[in-house]
Amino acid sequence: MTSAIPHDDSVRGGSGAMFDRIASRYDMLNRVISLGVDQGWRRRTVRALALGPEARVLDLATGTADLAIAIAKSQPHADVVGLDPSVGMLDVGRAKLARMGLDARISLVEGDAMALPFEDDSFDGVSIAFGIRNVPDRPKALAEMARVTRPSGRVAILELGEPRGSVLGPLARFHVHRVVPTLGAWLSGAGEYRYLEKSIAAFPPSEEFADVMRESGLDVLSVQPLTFGVANLYVARPAVWS
Ligand SMILES: C[S@@+](CC[C@H](N)C(=O)[O-])C[C@H]1O[C@@H](n2cnc3c(N)ncnc32)[C@H](O)[C@@H]1O
Repeated sequence: MTSAIPHDDSVRGGSGAMFDRIASRYDMLNRVISLGVDQGWRRRTVRALALGPEARVLDLATGTADLAIAIAKSQPHADVVGLDPSVGMLDVGRAKLARMGLDARISLVEGDAMALPFEDDSFDGVSIAFGIRNVPDRPKALAEMARVTRPSGRVAILELGEPRGSVLGPLARFHVHRVVPTLGAWLSGAGEYRYLEKSIAAFPPSEEFADVMRESGLDVLSVQPLTFGVANLYVARPAVWS
């Protein structure tokens, strides 16, 4: 499917350096900008992983570890690894894990989703929330997710999208294009939230992104729009090649 939305590779911030600059304010900004709905989206992402009690789970672009925490809370015996290139975001995450007493169950490692330091078939679930948009070579990261996920495992990708639809779509688009950059710049004192708006507009429509997932070795099980398409939840498993 084609779209009038421009695809702009220059808005991908793959190194994590940009996130180092906003790490200390990231959680507060997330809650305010998403009007609190981001944690509900994360809970749906955890459910989509359909984890067993002793699952081993990898959360990519884990940032300050909110999704890794939600995964660990959902399965008290799960073993969770969070990976991110931003040392600043991981430091905030580590302090949170220590406060919550979760540091023994969640380990946070510095790394890049495009080159995972893990063996094939080593996780029951692999997740990435609001992260794939920032990865410079998305097919490479998706192929890595397929590689490290066990054949019976699940991959869950939560990502923001360009809100569509004629009823509440215009309101959601106003929020993304006007409220988010203004509020973000005001609260963070930085221009980084202009990047957020641009990177959302540059991300492919959900049907197109699902095709990229298929071409990268994932069998797409469902694509669910959340909150008028402000976000989409993509659920997949590694494809079995015949
Ligand atoms: C918007 S934050 C999302 C953090 C977290 N997943 C959440 O739900 O709040 C995006 C994260 O993507 C990370 N990132 C950027 N490039 C990456 C890459 N190549 N591989 C893995 N993570 C990356 C950034 O460092 C940042 O922490």
